[in-house]
Amino acid sequence: MIGGRDVRTCKRCAASRCRYEIRLSVFPSMPILPSIVEIKTPDLDPVPGFPRLELSNLFNVAEWQHEIPWQPFKDGLEIYRLYGDGQSGPTAALIRFKKAGKVPFHAHTGFEHILILAGVQRDQNSAATPGTLIINPPGTAHSVVGDAGCIVLAIYEKPVEFLAEPEKASD
Ligand SMILES: [Fe+2]
Repeated sequence: MIGGRDVRTCKRCAASRCRYEIRLSVFPSMPILPSIVEIKTPDLDPVPGFPRLELSNLFNVAEWQHEIPWQPFKDGLEIYRLYGDGQSGPTAALIRFKKAGKVPFHAHTGFEHILILAGVQRDQNSAATPGTLIINPPGTAHSVVGDAGCIVLAIYEKPVEFLAEPEKASD
């Protein structure tokens, strides 16, 4: 205990700054952290810490994806919203594509940021692998498939608008 607060040490990496164990208690009560780890930061401005959402080990999410309370989303997709509702204003979410899962054809009314965390996500432009950040600008549209399955962090400036599938050109 430091300053009356519980400082936890991660059993995996033995670091007190690692939020791995705290993450377990954050889900599903996000976005407010139930406790703040007090870290001595004499080199920073003397202001108090504050409750916030902090995810760690995101590039290893495949290892702990079962801990996330996924909700059904589109066909073959599951979602865990970090904030926002996807209906108005900005939103961010983890999205898990099952095998052959697909985000239907949609238009971006604001910037769409997609960070691939695990697996491969494919659209009309590319097949993106883990560590790839995609920023789709407003006014663009596409559909997305997860092929063998993938997990992405999706951050939206504005809600997307789902559209009718464009007709395929006949031969
Ligand atoms: Fe999109």
